[in-house]
Amino acid sequence: MSGKLFTLEEVRSHNNAKSCWLAIHDKVYDVTKFIDEHPGGEEVLLELAGKDATSNFEDVGHSSDARDLLASYYIGDLHENDRSNYKPESKKDTNWMSEK
Ligand code: HEM
Repeated sequence: MSGKLFTLEEVRSHNNAKSCWLAIHDKVYDVTKFIDEHPGGEEVLLELAGKDATSNFEDVGHSSDARDLLASYYIGDLHENDRSNYKPESKKDTNWMSEK
């Protein structure tokens, strides 16, 4: 799965309820339409809007349903210079990614 490339700077400008982007595992998601629907509340998403939310997303231990949901908000990938060095504590954290 690959798409348009975005820099973190571009992602950073989508930091509010009118346009809310998150970077998770080096992929970029436009979650503007999801803010109201997030079971974890809108505040956390707005707080992380325009940022890399990988560790926050993982720390919560989101279900596989939540991970599946991500796919519907995918708009592209982070530019390679801006990719994170996120290292999961266990391989379990990334298994879901290779299944796709
Ligand atoms: C687009 C990204 C995200 C999606 C699709 C998503 C989806 C979900 C879903 C479906 C749930 C219900 C429980 C589950 O199925 O795991 C949930 C719960 C939760 N999410 Fe997210 N989430 C996203 C990003 C985030 C981020 C960045 C945070 C930041 C910390 C966060 C914090 C939480 C919390 C705290 C809960 C638990 C709510 C509770 O059990 O009371 N989520 N999320």
